[in-house]
Amino acid sequence: KIIILDFGSQFTQLIARRVRELNVYCEIHPFNHIPELDSTVKGIILSGSPYSVRQEDAPFVDLGLFKAFPLLAVCYGAQFIAQQNEGDVQASNSREYGRANLSHVNNANKLFKGINIDSQVWMSHGDTIKYVPDNFEIIASTADVKVAGYQVKDTNTYGIQFHPEVTHTVDGKILLENFLVDICGCSQDWTADAFVETTIAELKEKLGNDKVVLGLSGGVDSSVAAILLHKAIGKNLHCIFVDNGLLRKDEFESVLAQYKDLGLNIRGIDAKDRFLTQLAGVKDPELKRKAIGRVFIEVFDDAAHEVKDVVWLAQGTIYPDIIESVSIKGPSATIKSHHNVGGLPDFMKLKIVEPLNTLFKDEVRRVGKSLGIESFILGRHPFPGPGLAIRILGDVTAEKVAILQEADAIYINNLKEAGLYDQVWQAGAIFLPVQSVGVMGDERTYENVICLRAVESVDGMTADWCHLPYPVLAKISNEIINKVRGINRVVYDISSKPPATIEWE
Ligand code: XMP
Repeated sequence: KIIILDFGSQFTQLIARRVRELNVYCEIHPFNHIPELDSTVKGIILSGSPYSVRQEDAPFVDLGLFKAFPLLAVCYGAQFIAQQNEGDVQASNSREYGRANLSHVNNANKLFKGINIDSQVWMSHGDTIKYVPDNFEIIASTADVKVAGYQVKDTNTYGIQFHPEVTHTVDGKILLENFLVDICGCSQDWTADAFVETTIAELKEKLGNDKVVLGLSGGVDSSVAAILLHKAIGKNLHCIFVDNGLLRKDEFESVLAQYKDLGLNIRGIDAKDRFLTQLAGVKDPELKRKAIGRVFIEVFDDAAHEVKDVVWLAQGTIYPDIIESVSIKGPSATIKSHHNVGGLPDFMKLKIVEPLNTLFKDEVRRVGKSLGIESFILGRHPFPGPGLAIRILGDVTAEKVAILQEADAIYINNLKEAGLYDQVWQAGAIFLPVQSVGVMGDERTYENVICLRAVESVDGMTADWCHLPYPVLAKISNEIINKVRGINRVVYDISSKPPATIEWE
């Protein structure tokens, strides 16, 4: 494996994704929590950072720890190594940001094999390496940045000023592959098929004949986790699917049927009334989330206790949920509490198994495909744990849920019919309890608003609104206003995240 040491760069996860796209397993660790570097480690990558090496409190690592390993240092990492070796790092005259082209490259050097002069690279730095000592060979430059790439002579230590992980660095993938394969000697055998095979074997070994409970949500992660576990331990996996009354129209029944077809040992629990009762009159988004989380735990706990002698709780946690982040600017503020991150409380006293906790979202999909899971499950849009409750502004009632379910179903079906569903990362309707005047036939109406939201995103952290075609929007609007009683106006959300969020609550 490859270890990526994170100095807090916004691109660190991208480095990991690129390494894995090259079928090499890697892990991200904070620079101040270095894991044991045993013989399974084939190489180390140092990330960039929002810090400058010239700052007093800049992240520091003892480079002596890495002597035995090939090392690729990106941006801050490259500046850090230069500085530690008596090189000179200074503020650049102008902040170097964006595209540049290599004006000099030594493609006899292993790292730059197959990369030619003029190749476009992407820079993002405020400091620049002004001077490197004699034992550093400069292996790449651009017009503005003389030390765009270096090798510490007679060692496997390399530094690059540009970012190979972003797509604007056109040959970034070649460079990373050169490092991983030619310099570290990695074999590119970390594929979805290999993951499935080894994970099933590991789960068999770990779980033996124990019973496991898993909460299914209908989403991609819990579905893939369930099928993996099912392949490993069969009927000893007890799946629980809770109907909180806040799912999409008919989703509970159809998803339950699909899971049964897949052979899962699954119990569906109708808890609609319990959720709605606890939500009655609750207006505050955070209190709504907390109430839903609380009831979910109660319902799930009751159901789990009915599985005799259960030992394990399985969760569909994925890698971005557990990557330990480098806290530089202090802990980030809680914007929304996601009730399903952080697991269930201690009183369940079960051991936790998380078969997907090394995977990124796109890898979960690939693993799902390798497991033969149908695209109607793998391609489903993300859906929040608190469901439609956070798409109904203010208090939630059965009537509002029913209206929103109808409008949402019309919206989603139209996206599917227009062939747009798979192009959109996430879409959903939002119920706005704002009444406005309309006219239907000869009658004055005074009804609520439905807002349509559709976003493009990679991981939900940032998002942009989708430019859906007007004719499709027109058809959806017409259909909702004509068919859904209680709605006389449809609007489209054209806000990106940030500054807005994807959900309205
Ligand atoms: P926001 O609204 O924060 O959403 O931009 C980002 C992504 O997270 C989902 N989301 C949630 N998922 N429990 C979940 O399981 C939650 O409480 C929750 N809140 C937001 C949201 O649907 C989007 O994909």
